[in-house]
Amino acid sequence: MNQDNKISAVYPGSFDPVTNGHVYIAERAASIFDELTVSILYNEHKSATFSVQERIEMAREALKHLKNVKIDCFEGLLVDYMKHVGSRVIIRGLRAMSDFEYEFQIALMNRQLAPELETFFIVTDPKYSYVSSSGVREVFHFGGTVQGLVPDCVFKKLSERFNIKN
Ligand code: COA
Repeated sequence: MNQDNKISAVYPGSFDPVTNGHVYIAERAASIFDELTVSILYNEHKSATFSVQERIEMAREALKHLKNVKIDCFEGLLVDYMKHVGSRVIIRGLRAMSDFEYEFQIALMNRQLAPELETFFIVTDPKYSYVSSSGVREVFHFGGTVQGLVPDCVFKKLSERFNIKN
């Protein structure tokens, strides 16, 4: 809860780029919490296709219909960022059981670091259960269609980046 008694949540991730699966999770989280911050991880150890600024712009455009959502970025530990923005709720999406093991470990690590934080899992729409950012990039790169899997602004950006008209 922040100073206005509003419950805020943070949806962190790489979002390289944001997909319709991410949009779905953000829509559901935004319908439950008063404020949602979608926060893009700047990770120097993970090579990214899009810069943080590009990822921010795509996420901003893709989520502009959600009035209680803002886009931000962070580096370092998520728990430190959560303290910095004054939120206690971490949102993560689950696509399949295989996500669960990974997410469970992250959630427990974060609880060890900051017991006051809570991780909320939101289950994806089955139609996005196989969608990932790297999958989208690869399919697009080799000429496959990703329409319906990414927001229009991301489709446009992928076309520019890979100089392909799929
Ligand atoms: N729809 C579509 N794709 C989804 C998805 C959904 N609902 N949920 C997850 N994904 C995909 C992403 O597209 C991404 O795919 P890719 O690897 O093929 O590009 C993959 O799942 C990983 O998801 P992402 O949310 O980007 O996770 P991450 O592992 O890069 O980052 C953080 C997770 C940001 C929560 C975590 O790394 C973190 O907090 N890092 C900061 C450092 C820290 O605090 N560490 C301590 C905790 S361990």
